[in-house]
Amino acid sequence: MRTPVVLGIESSCDETGAGLVRDGRLLGHAVASSMDAHARFGGVVPEIAARAHLESLTPVVRSALERAGLRMRDVGAVAVTTGPGLAGALQVGLAGAKSLAYSLGVPLYGVHHLAGHVAADTLEHGPLPDPCMVLVVSGGHTSLLLVRDLARDPIVHLGDTVDDAAGECFDKVARVFGLPYPGGPAVDRAAREGDARAVAFPRPLTGARDSAYDFSFSGLKTAAARWAEQHRARGTALPVADGAASLQEAVADVLTRKAVRACREHGVRTLVVVGGVAANSRVRVLAEERCREAGIALRVPPLGLCTDNGAMIAAVGDLLVRAGAEPAPWDVSIDPSAPLEYAALHPLARDARAA
Ligand code: KG4
Ligand code: ZN
Repeated sequence: MRTPVVLGIESSCDETGAGLVRDGRLLGHAVASSMDAHARFGGVVPEIAARAHLESLTPVVRSALERAGLRMRDVGAVAVTTGPGLAGALQVGLAGAKSLAYSLGVPLYGVHHLAGHVAADTLEHGPLPDPCMVLVVSGGHTSLLLVRDLARDPIVHLGDTVDDAAGECFDKVARVFGLPYPGGPAVDRAAREGDARAVAFPRPLTGARDSAYDFSFSGLKTAAARWAEQHRARGTALPVADGAASLQEAVADVLTRKAVRACREHGVRTLVVVGGVAANSRVRVLAEERCREAGIALRVPPLGLCTDNGAMIAAVGDLLVRAGAEPAPWDVSIDPSAPLEYAALHPLARDARAA
């Protein structure tokens, strides 16, 4: 029997995404963002995001189908992000996914958002090697993961951030630097004109006695804010490009140093860097350089699949379908602070794994 086309739906933050995947192949996807509506508030406003998902969901699913040259009746399974994320935003995606799956008479799968980021890379570079090291760096998470079979095995956390996520650090410092929201891409752009050695920002948790794989970005955020305040107190113009380049260098240095070390110490030959911050140009270049020196194969999804999208959720759904995972019950609910333990979030899939 032919494997079904999986429709993936993502609505955990400010992007409404829909994607169609079959047998590890991306057939088409579409994303609508409510980013502009949040810009004047300097961050995502949950109620605005939820309302925007409500308006965008149907058009986004339609345009993903159009791009894939498919019709609704071609969909054989639906996968949806059930956590983590903003409660109201997740509810909209789940309600939409449930009604589509129920009306089509096809199974529904609840997916962990971060597993989606990991699976995004398979759409470009094929199945993940077992094992692989994954550095997931987004607006809300920063973790080093040892991944085996994403659809079947538990995900092992080697390290996590003890405070802010890397993307959060970019977003918050950008605000202090007077750069627009979202901060990550703005810092990346500003850094192009700057000198990465201009400011000696700290490299948190890189001392000999520090945890090798945990991250911390709140001290770096404070250091960058202090640096900006000192300039303002002196009445001198803030050299934003130098500050942005130096901040980006500090983040990229810490992320790639720890990730390469984790690969070496665990004898893992492949590093996969995923999540919104994997779109950062310096993170990509430094990861490339350091992996090459260490003889590690590096995989990073294309830019459009790094930030939130529905294709990555469909990719997890497709893996679950092919692994024979149990679908979610119709009363499956969201889990806004779901820990990343398995790719599938709903209990039935977990019971099947334990059996
Ligand atoms: O994965 P994502 O789209 O959403 C979450 O799951 O959080 O990641 C969004 C984060 C934001 O913090 C954003 O500023 C950051 O990724 N980001 C970047 C870049 N593009 C997006 N950070 C640094 N450089 C970039 N080019
Ligand atoms: Zn994300």
